Amino acid sequence: MVNKLKRLNPQFKNFLKTSSKSAKRFGYNIYLVGGAVRDLLLNRPVFDLDIAVEGDAILLVRQIAKQLNEKFRRHHSFGTATLYHHGHKIDFATARKEIYPYSGSLPKVKKSFLKEDLARRDFSINAMAISLNKKNYGQLIDFYQGRQDLKNRLIRILYPESFLDDSLRILRAVRFQQRFTFKIETKTYAFMKQAIGAGALKWINPHRLRDELILFLDEPNPYRYIKKFYLLERFNFINKRIKLDKEDFKFFIRAQTAIRFYNKLVKNEKKVKYWLIFLTGILLNLSNHEAVEVVAKFGFKKDERSTIISIKKGLDKIKKLDKKLKASAIYKILSGYNQEAIIFFYAYFSRKKIRSNIIFFLKKVSGQKLKIKGKDLQKIGVESSSFMGEMLKEIFYLKLDKNLNTKRQELNEARNIIKKGG
Ligand code: CTP
Repeated sequence: MVNKLKRLNPQFKNFLKTSSKSAKRFGYNIYLVGGAVRDLLLNRPVFDLDIAVEGDAILLVRQIAKQLNEKFRRHHSFGTATLYHHGHKIDFATARKEIYPYSGSLPKVKKSFLKEDLARRDFSINAMAISLNKKNYGQLIDFYQGRQDLKNRLIRILYPESFLDDSLRILRAVRFQQRFTFKIETKTYAFMKQAIGAGALKWINPHRLRDELILFLDEPNPYRYIKKFYLLERFNFINKRIKLDKEDFKFFIRAQTAIRFYNKLVKNEKKVKYWLIFLTGILLNLSNHEAVEVVAKFGFKKDERSTIISIKKGLDKIKKLDKKLKASAIYKILSGYNQEAIIFFYAYFSRKKIRSNIIFFLKKVSGQKLKIKGKDLQKIGVESSSFMGEMLKEIFYLKLDKNLNTKRQELNEARNIIKKGG
């Protein structure tokens, strides 16, 4: 296992050494736990780290942060602290025994030790640890046969009530199963079905469900995930009226292709929320009113809500793109939509003309800006500010349609408009 730790990037390795030394000074034992251990064993890249501390995690992180001159955030009620190191998120948690005051609630935290901490986790493959302590640095600690399950490609819970304690694990089981193309172990599957049947997904805080749903839909190529989950639970937990048919599943496949295509076509700094495209696809057969209720209940952000609703409401308008149009007409139809919506429309409509107009918009129209400003119009005698706004708009459309490139061409158009009497 020492070798596996060696596979980490140098920044992580140095970080772990520093943490290990600090912990020793406090007399604490610390361990790398959870997804990072699993991913190291699977030879997959590791982005974030979870560290369990047999001691006071917040005290330890304060010390490490000071030493490395890094910022950290503490969450007192959970006994956890998060530190950002070279853009990686590193969570420290007091090795703990979680007590769920009632099913679906957030856990209350009591200090205890590693074995119990691992026992409360979701699946055996996520319940392994690697010692970061001098006496056995790098050694794998595997109380619950996680390594065996990794070899046998199995998702297995650690205790029968696991899905009832935390029904987010239903979504997580499908997510990991699909991500690694594993199998959900037979008994685990039965417990999962039982928990679904008992309505466990309804007991949970909707905001926690939302966050897990986002992770679920944000996996690369989530079509398979959606299909599997639909067969299992039908997304009843979102709304009982959700219904997905063959066409919807074809849409999810097309959306995956559309995302790849979009990424090749548009070099973008802004992070696209791909999951929104799939979520909107799932909500498509709901009425706008029902969709509004869903996004409110789960507390999606304002921009996310408006993306979903604007896509649902915009489908009819986009049909207008199914003919040869001037650039300005394409602009008028598409300019109000964000990237998620544009990708959605491209995937949703397979009509050639609609798609080529969308591509034209992305390639030639969406990045365009006028070179002239209001003050240039003032100089040629335009005074009224409302007229100025109208004129700039008009010149912008002409710029698109006539492919104007220079400021002088734009000013000429302005003069023509004035000559014609506005
Ligand atoms: N965990 C859990 N039950 C949950 C969520 C998390 O037991 N509902 C535990 C698991 O041990 C998990 C760890 O907390 O490995 C960290 O959670 P998270 O970061 O969500 O999971 P990762 O396994 O790191 O998943 P990913 O690869 O998607 O980041």
